[in-house]
Amino acid sequence: MVKGGRRLEGEVTVSGSKNSSLPILAATILTQGLNTITSVPDLLDIQTMLRMLRSLNIRAEYSQPHTVRVWVNHYIKHVAPYELVTKMRASFFIIGPLLAKTGFAKIPLPGGCAIGSRPVDIHLKGLQALGADVELEHGFVKVQARKLKGDRILLDFPSVGATETIMMAATLAEGETLIENAAREPEITDLADYLNKCGAQISGAGSEQIKILGVKELKASDHNVIPDRIEAGTLMVAAAISRGNILIKNVNVAHVDSTILKLQQSGVTVEVKGDQVRVKASHRPKAVDIKTQPYPGFPTDMQPQLAALMSLAEGTSVISEGVFENRFMHVHELKRMGADIRLEGQSAIVNGVAKLQGAPVKSRDLRAGAALMLAGLGAEGETLIEDIDRFIERGYEKLDKKLIALGAEIKELRNIAEYEDEDNA
Ligand code: EPU
Repeated sequence: MVKGGRRLEGEVTVSGSKNSSLPILAATILTQGLNTITSVPDLLDIQTMLRMLRSLNIRAEYSQPHTVRVWVNHYIKHVAPYELVTKMRASFFIIGPLLAKTGFAKIPLPGGCAIGSRPVDIHLKGLQALGADVELEHGFVKVQARKLKGDRILLDFPSVGATETIMMAATLAEGETLIENAAREPEITDLADYLNKCGAQISGAGSEQIKILGVKELKASDHNVIPDRIEAGTLMVAAAISRGNILIKNVNVAHVDSTILKLQQSGVTVEVKGDQVRVKASHRPKAVDIKTQPYPGFPTDMQPQLAALMSLAEGTSVISEGVFENRFMHVHELKRMGADIRLEGQSAIVNGVAKLQGAPVKSRDLRAGAALMLAGLGAEGETLIEDIDRFIERGYEKLDKKLIALGAEIKELRNIAEYEDEDNA
């Protein structure tokens, strides 16, 4: 339950990136020995990935807050449990490392999810190009290869997950792999940095062309995960929507450029100093148009939060979704709070209103849930958000506690219920 109308003030520290930690934990499969990964956020999705590693006979545990140790020894199992892949689609990321390390993997095919159909065809085409046989059998993907061989792979779309899958598999392939039209997200660069510490030879991560020279083996390594750019952006919008003044610490400013730009265009004050960002707002924001795109474009993972802010803007903004086909679930809920939004194909036309009203709403995916929490901060009265444990808490470390420390009035009304079969990570 969020009671709106409080100006948020104070300091808050951003946690490590969920979407960096997940593939890095999957990549530990490629190594031998003890990996120590730090700045890992304490989230249900991370626990799911640790369970996945354990199911493969790998020792993986949180040893201290935000530190995960993964011990990889000789015997690794090849089959991923259905139950874990249906909980979190990012579990599918183990396919590349498992194939490269053991020559065989059998992984349940992830289904669609709340934000789109999200196929894995680009991942599989990439593995095929490296010489793997790919078969679909009874809902599982079976991939096998005696020895992967490097090749030039042109992606149909710069998919984050597919770039990660191919990059991980290619580290142990014979010869050189060139990924063209690669995703450029900071999480790709973080994964490449970790793999290079393990002895991989990857260059060009962060650009459209990534070159991987295969090596014989990878050793375990230590790695500190980058700050979560989407959490940073979400906190910036919290300052803007509550007309507050927040100092956000542990931000890689280059990673949040597009969000900062949009906030500045809408009249929000953003001051950057090193890895700290102060966000201040005292008026209604001005409407700005947004189009989500692969990095360095505006992130789809910030679209729902900006839609919440634009609901209260002066003027009309057009928000176009260019990455997922069904990422407007939050719009129906924002309308229940009094927002004036019309959906036209892949765009939302948002006519800003002067006030939102608290209402009972449903969080249907992670970022949509965060957007509703933000809308609740800027609304009059009480907003009751259902299912926060199934969505918001999967991807944001203690978001409610962080907002409360900044002066928000938020109460959790029940204990975390069963972690169910929904998935949007
Ligand atoms: N796509 C295909 N075929 C594929 C792979 C992707 O058609 O084989 C399509 C997808 O259906 C989608 C688009 O390509 O329409 C982009 O998907 P991408 O593969 O780039 O996304 P992802 O790897 O599945 C990661 C994040 C998402 C984030 C997207 C885009 C993780 C664990 N997840 O997903 O994060 O939205 O990149 O930046 O890294 C979130 O954190 O809330 C979240 C959904």
